Amino acid sequence: MNVQSAENLTEILKTFNESTVKLRQAYDALQLKFGALNRQLEDTNKELSRRIAELSEVKEYLNSILQSVTNGVIAINVKGEITAFNKAAERITGLDAESVIQRAFSEVFATDFGASFQRRSGQMEHGQRYTSRDLKVKGRHPFPVRESNSFTRDGRGEITGAVKVFEDLSELRELEEQARRQDRLAALGQMAATVAHEIRNPLGGIEGFASLLARDFDADDPRSKLVTKIQEGARSLNRVVTELLVFTRPMKLDFKTIELPMLVNETLGFLSSDIKAANIRLQKRLGKGELKVTGDAEQLKRVLLNIMLNAVQAMPNGGTLKVGCRQGSLSPAARKMLGHCRNGSWAEVSIRDSGPGIEESEIPRIFNPFYTTKEKGTGLGLSVAAKIVDAHRGQILASNSPRGGALFVVSLPLEG
Ligand SMILES: Nc1ncnc2c1ncn2[C@@H]1O[C@H](COP(=O)(O)OP(=O)(O)O)[C@@H](O)[C@H]1O
Ligand SMILES: [Mg+2]
Repeated sequence: MNVQSAENLTEILKTFNESTVKLRQAYDALQLKFGALNRQLEDTNKELSRRIAELSEVKEYLNSILQSVTNGVIAINVKGEITAFNKAAERITGLDAESVIQRAFSEVFATDFGASFQRRSGQMEHGQRYTSRDLKVKGRHPFPVRESNSFTRDGRGEITGAVKVFEDLSELRELEEQARRQDRLAALGQMAATVAHEIRNPLGGIEGFASLLARDFDADDPRSKLVTKIQEGARSLNRVVTELLVFTRPMKLDFKTIELPMLVNETLGFLSSDIKAANIRLQKRLGKGELKVTGDAEQLKRVLLNIMLNAVQAMPNGGTLKVGCRQGSLSPAARKMLGHCRNGSWAEVSIRDSGPGIEESEIPRIFNPFYTTKEKGTGLGLSVAAKIVDAHRGQILASNSPRGGALFVVSLPLEG
């Protein structure tokens, strides 16, 4: 090794040492910075988790508000898919939120989201205008609602979808219909009372003279048959007049405590020969517990008899008559409408037949006086029944059972 290269080596070593020191310093500095950054990151992380927790709290809070409002709320995104469906919407539409979320609104409902949404007109952007219309779930009956639609927007004002807030109007409509029915009944009642009165006197005469005549003829005299016909006719007319008067007179009720299952049984007793004659199978489910109501036993028997008689008449060639009695579970809508006995304390008698059922569109009319589809019907049975039940602050619901046949449910407030 020469001197020159030895010097070089020393130089190199020195530079190397210096570099090492610098490197270490740089490394230490870096580590310090890294530590600081790490701490900063940790802080950011903590802040982030706090924000996330806060956000989910806000979300929960908003959701619980959404779920507790009594109006139905449905939200859709820009693709028209349902993104929110609150409890009230479930109750009003009868659909499960789970089964409709993420499905297209147009796939679930037979009505569009709202004409103004389709057109994206300015009207909907404000969303304050309420409109009444029918909302229809596919494959079901439409139900009237009052609704308001508005767009939802993100922070930049871009439309992200729309929200529909709606209110069920079916109770209101039902009440309106009831009021109209009462008016019609009042007018009809007045007229009927006059007519009945006018008919009653001459009818009494006809009946009296016919029985005098009957005494004058021998039993085998062909004329005696004619007289019997006159008597039958007069009796049948008399029955109509009596029903009319029951229907039109203000009702005097003799309120007592009634064991409902016993009353049902007694009423069925009147019908046992008709039931046997028509080859009808009777299924009774009168329950074990007590079911007491306050009412007029005679009048309530008349109610049950009229309904059961219709059921028997609907099955001339046999069938099944199911009569049930139980503590009632009136629909929340019906309960609200009746306004009393809110806590489900209702007694319910159900009468189900296996006949042809009632034409769906005719159901609102069957309680009208003189509505009948029978050749010899008076059309008064159900109107009388409705009037009596009304006077007991109860209600009668008529429907068709899904398995065919008509179903009548009489609900009365339980005693106590
Ligand atoms: N169980 C039933 N099944 C089918 N239709 C019924 C039933 N009950 C009542 N209806 C319908 O309601 C109408 C009115 O009944 P109602 O007032 O008792 O009068 P009526 O029995 O004299 O016809 C009946 O004519 C019939 O069309
Ligand atoms: Mg009848």
